[in-house]
Amino acid sequence: MILITGGAGFIGSNFVLDWLTVSDKPVINLDALTYAGNLENLATINGDKRHIFVKGSIGDFDLVTKLLTKYQPRAVINFAAESHVDRSIHGPEDFIQTNIVGTFRLLEAVRTYWNKLDDSAKRNFRFLHVSTDEVYGTLKNDDPAFKESNPYMPNSPYSASKASSDHLVRAYYHTYALPVLTTNCSNNYGPYQFPEKLIPLIIHNALSGKPLPIYGDGQQIRDWLYVKDHCAAIRQVLQDGRLGETYNIGGLNEKANLDVVETLCSILDELSPRTDGKPYTEQITFVKDRPGHDRRYAIDATKIERELGWKPAETFERGLRKTVQWYLDNQPWVQNVTSGAYQHWVGNHYGTI
Ligand code: NAD
Ligand code: TYD
Repeated sequence: MILITGGAGFIGSNFVLDWLTVSDKPVINLDALTYAGNLENLATINGDKRHIFVKGSIGDFDLVTKLLTKYQPRAVINFAAESHVDRSIHGPEDFIQTNIVGTFRLLEAVRTYWNKLDDSAKRNFRFLHVSTDEVYGTLKNDDPAFKESNPYMPNSPYSASKASSDHLVRAYYHTYALPVLTTNCSNNYGPYQFPEKLIPLIIHNALSGKPLPIYGDGQQIRDWLYVKDHCAAIRQVLQDGRLGETYNIGGLNEKANLDVVETLCSILDELSPRTDGKPYTEQITFVKDRPGHDRRYAIDATKIERELGWKPAETFERGLRKTVQWYLDNQPWVQNVTSGAYQHWVGNHYGTI
């Protein structure tokens, strides 16, 4: 049995679905169901006894302790976080509470549980912390990609809060010998991503006839990782990762935002053309840049490939096409997550565009 946190979010739900197709080991899924958590992501495993969902916070020491004591998991994987940079700029408080204080309380509960295990269970236990490449800061176009040895230089409240959580996880290894692993991945994309992030937002806005907002000049570069490749990497790190180590996970797909949006438009032109016959690129709108916007992220994933034999299987073209098709096939899911609080966010953040 493993316990995962944040398993109703984008990556966490993909991980649960993926885990249950490759493993017969049950999953306890602890998720606070914030605006980003959605049990509809897990609808295809409704009634599957191997999935036990618990609504609650990683910051609730007593609840986490109860779950650990009751289910005796051999691993905890921490996906739970506030994850959207723009929201962290508008209001950092939740990021500090969940990503820093929450991770600290989770570590405390796990440490207390782990200390009481017998020697063999102690040796086999793992705490895997899922983090981001954004902790390393920003790159110039000709800088080498991020290695695990790069210094931490976070630039947004989101990345600073994730950096803090990574430091806590590291400290629990060095101070208490808690068997931890940390992964730092690049931008994920794929099914079930909340349409506040670039790729699903563009697909949703395009199909709704709304502007496609590009921050600044659109030449910021991200290294896109298909979420199912990410899930496979996490399973590999959990199985064979060296204790106390961090592993960078990237898609080997560096693309400028404007190129990503134009590619999405051309896939949509083909799969779901506009009724007026015009290209979706007509909806592209340049808007004010994000404050402190990191120019480029790129992952050097040679460590995970060399040590654990993992590398991404998906190409960007194919992954993006599958993703667009998934959103086209799952419009009711999109309608449900884009009502209510989401409308409020869009109104506040993008104003009148
Ligand atoms: P997400 O925002 O889609 O999902 C986060 C999930 O965590 C939600 O289900 C939410 O309800 C839950 N949650 C929030 N606060 C909680 C709390 N206090 N207790 C329990 N659950 C809580 O995020 P995601 O994109 O799936 O990201 C998952 C992890 O991967 C995060 O740690 C994020 O920092 C990291 N990451 C994401 C990306 C990306 O491109 N999406 C890239 C790098 C790293
Ligand atoms: P995002 O998906 O928010 O991920 P992150 O900020 O964690 O990289 O954004 C990806 C890139 O797309 C980032 O450079 C910001 C840019 N972006 C836009 O240009 N317009 C948008 O409306 C959004 C949400 C993002």
